[in-house]
Order: sequence, then structure tokens, then C-alpha cells
Amino acid sequence: MSREKTLILIKPDGVQLGLVGESINRIERKGYQLEALKVVNASKDQLEHHYSELIHKSFFREIEKYMQEGPIVAIIASGPHIIDVFHRMSGNTNPSLASFGTIRGDFGRESNDGIIRNIVHSSDNVEHAKEEIKIWFPEL
Ligand code: CMP
Repeated sequence: MSREKTLILIKPDGVQLGLVGESINRIERKGYQLEALKVVNASKDQLEHHYSELIHKSFFREIEKYMQEGPIVAIIASGPHIIDVFHRMSGNTNPSLASFGTIRGDFGRESNDGIIRNIVHSSDNVEHAKEEIKIWFPEL
């Protein structure tokens, strides 16, 4: 059994749409454990680290704008294969392409301004999870 930790962010649209409880409910219903949780306003520095692989993309400024539209809920959750499973529970990056039954498929809306607002983020591998946990929970 591979017990893993992952970093989950409920992004500004998820918070504004009132999906904090729903997202946490899905984490718990799947049997995963909450290890840490906080409400945070993302700083430029945190976003540049978190999205370091996208920093040279044309849409990086849009991601920054989006992620600073309001508070974020940062969560460390753990459980067997949580990285892969929570990714599948989140669904496709584009909410219009995400399957029903996933968080993005059930609740995501496509925006008219081209910014992909998709409610949640989660780490995509063990290395990234460690790095991302440090970015959002430097005190741990
Ligand atoms: P995520 O899977 O967290 O990783 C990168 C994020 O950038 C993605 O979700 C989207 O929320 C965000 N994003 C905003 N605009 C774009 C865009 N034009 N193309 C791709 N990703 C975008």
C-alpha cells in the first residue's frame, strides 16, 4: 500500500462558489485524512514557486491574476495512492471537458475571458507534493 501525502488547493473560484465543504466532503468520503488546512491569500512569490514550470508561458500572468482573485484553502491530505486518485476525482483541467462525477465536471464553469478556472489543484507526483507542501505550509 502506498500511503502518500498531497497538496490540495481549493482555488479562488472554488471558495467563491461555496465549494470548500463539498471538496472536503469528497476527500473524507473517499477515506482520506486531513493533515493540515488553512485559508490563505496567495502571494506572488508562492505562485511563482508553485507554477515555476509555467512561468514562461504566455498565460502565466492570467494564472497569477486568477489565483489572487480571492482567498484559497490549502490542504494537506493523505491516504493510499491519494495523488493519482485525487487527480482523477478532480477531472480534466478544462471544466467543460471534465467528466460528471468529478469536482470540475460537476461544478466547474468555463469563463469567457479564457482563464481556466477549475476549482481545485492537486500535486501530480510525490516530488511535486513535497515541494508544494513546503510552499504553502513552510511552518511545518
Ligand atoms: P492546474 O491544473 O492547477 O495547473 C495550471 C493551471 O493554470 C490550470 O490548472 C488552470 O487553472 C490555470 N490556467 C489559467 N489559464 C490557463 C490557460 N490559458 N491554459 C492552461 N491553464 C490555465
